Amino acid sequence: MRHFLSLYDFTKEEILEIIDLGKKIKEEAKVKNYIPYLQGQSLGMLFEKSSTRTRISFEVGIHQLGGQGLFLSSNDLQLGRGEPMKDSARVISRMVDMVMIRTYSQSVLDEFAAYSKVPIINGLTDKYHPVQLLADYLTMVENGKDKNPIVAYVGDGNNMTHSWMMLASKLGFELRVATPKGYEPLDEIIDDAKMLCEQSGGVVTYTNDPAIAVRGADVVTTDTWVSMGQEDEKEKRVGDFKGYIVDTELMSKAKEDAIFLHCLPAYRGYEVSEEVIEKYADIVFDEAENRLHAQKGLMVWLEKKR
Ligand code: CP
Ligand code: NVA
Repeated sequence: MRHFLSLYDFTKEEILEIIDLGKKIKEEAKVKNYIPYLQGQSLGMLFEKSSTRTRISFEVGIHQLGGQGLFLSSNDLQLGRGEPMKDSARVISRMVDMVMIRTYSQSVLDEFAAYSKVPIINGLTDKYHPVQLLADYLTMVENGKDKNPIVAYVGDGNNMTHSWMMLASKLGFELRVATPKGYEPLDEIIDDAKMLCEQSGGVVTYTNDPAIAVRGADVVTTDTWVSMGQEDEKEKRVGDFKGYIVDTELMSKAKEDAIFLHCLPAYRGYEVSEEVIEKYADIVFDEAENRLHAQKGLMVWLEKKR
């Protein structure tokens, strides 16, 4: 049995296999051919943070695969009243076939997985957001940006950055990360990425200058400056991230046919300008839709490994 806690645990071949499966299932779904690969199965969806895309894509995804999704908000569970995570894991995993969790600490996810009888999927932690990267890479494939691309990530060194670092260093492409001073990715992930790049031929570089990162890039991406749980830091962050907006001027430094990606939700006037997000809206909302398809691929893949 496999869990999907981080891309670190997956080989290049496995990541591409999951994305291919998502692509195939997307093609089937286009003609409303919803093949019940997971007939009668239940997916527990445990949320300790808000969500639009993750909740809807997993709930609709499992339904289209012939199963059902259960939305479990920690506020409504005994978990919210202090039932230990390891007990919740042992109970929930005896009743459902797979569990997706969105929580704060990666260690909570790891603990849940350690006590679970069924596969666990990371639906976002403070450290990683790996399901988003499956959708992002599928979008790159669909836009012909999967052949030795240069990807520029501009903004906060957060869960999205860490996930891009894992993807680039596993698949072996070039990623340039531009963050303000003090908002760099975690050292341990920089070390992991370095080690993985030595094996894959990938290159991950770090700068405090967005223009250096974006110059000649095939894909430019960003994420909110204020992640869930950091609301109290908003004022300071907005000041510290001045100059890190992805606007038309910054995009003009990328390749002429470069694409822009955003995991969403987007905060216009902060990490991205209205003009840029609207210019690339078709791609950005394909990317959002691809959450559904890529995660269906993931769930079917995990089931196959049991
Ligand atoms: N991108 C993403 O995970 O969106 P939600 O927070 O709406 O799920
Ligand atoms: N970095 C953001 C991603 C939201 C999908 C957050 O954690 O809030």
